[in-house]
Amino acid sequence: MNEKNHDMTSTITVTVNGTEYTRTTEDRTLLVHFLREELGLTGTHQGCVVGKCGACTVLHEGVPKKSCMLYAAQVDGDDLTTVEGLADIAESEGVDLETREGATLHPLQMGFKEKHGLQCGFCTPGFLMTSYALLEENPDPSEEEIKSAISGNICRCTGYNSIVQSIQWAADELEGGSQETEATTDGGVPTGGCGADCCCQAGGDFDE
Ligand code: FES
Ligand code: FES
Repeated sequence: MNEKNHDMTSTITVTVNGTEYTRTTEDRTLLVHFLREELGLTGTHQGCVVGKCGACTVLHEGVPKKSCMLYAAQVDGDDLTTVEGLADIAESEGVDLETREGATLHPLQMGFKEKHGLQCGFCTPGFLMTSYALLEENPDPSEEEIKSAISGNICRCTGYNSIVQSIQWAADELEGGSQETEATTDGGVPTGGCGADCCCQAGGDFDE
């Protein structure tokens, strides 16, 4: 447990994505900085750092929390899940969703890919962790329940509809559906892109 040192540091042990880490860290270190800088888990993004955007969301004992709102020393002895853990969860649950490159994705990650739930991707880890917790608690959420669950996460790119559809896609997949995935070009970019109105179409036709 938390071993208090005399120089404003503490030695803490946390389990992240099933791996136990013991580190001595400054008492003022935010959890988001601890994950990124001391454990090298940079999938958790740092946005506003004042609890507004949700980009830093991780699961703390299964509950989505904004990791910029916690000190690392506060989670000593606890269990955390970050976006890096989603693929392992998928594999442990026998999910078989692979990218063209052969990487296993959690249905939520695949849903965001299939339904264009991201553009720049900065907000995506937070949305994934928030929606993972939602589907754990409510496997068949309504559109309104999804919107309510993700209300603490901000995206500047997508307009949110595609994010809601991505979560619905994942819920259907987890319910046992084996859904059609779109044909892809190199790099897993869906043929046809996001539609004629999307900024991603500015560079030309994906089919070329
Ligand atoms: S970085 Fe934590 S809520 Fe924005
Ligand atoms: S995809 Fe760019 S902020 Fe959400």
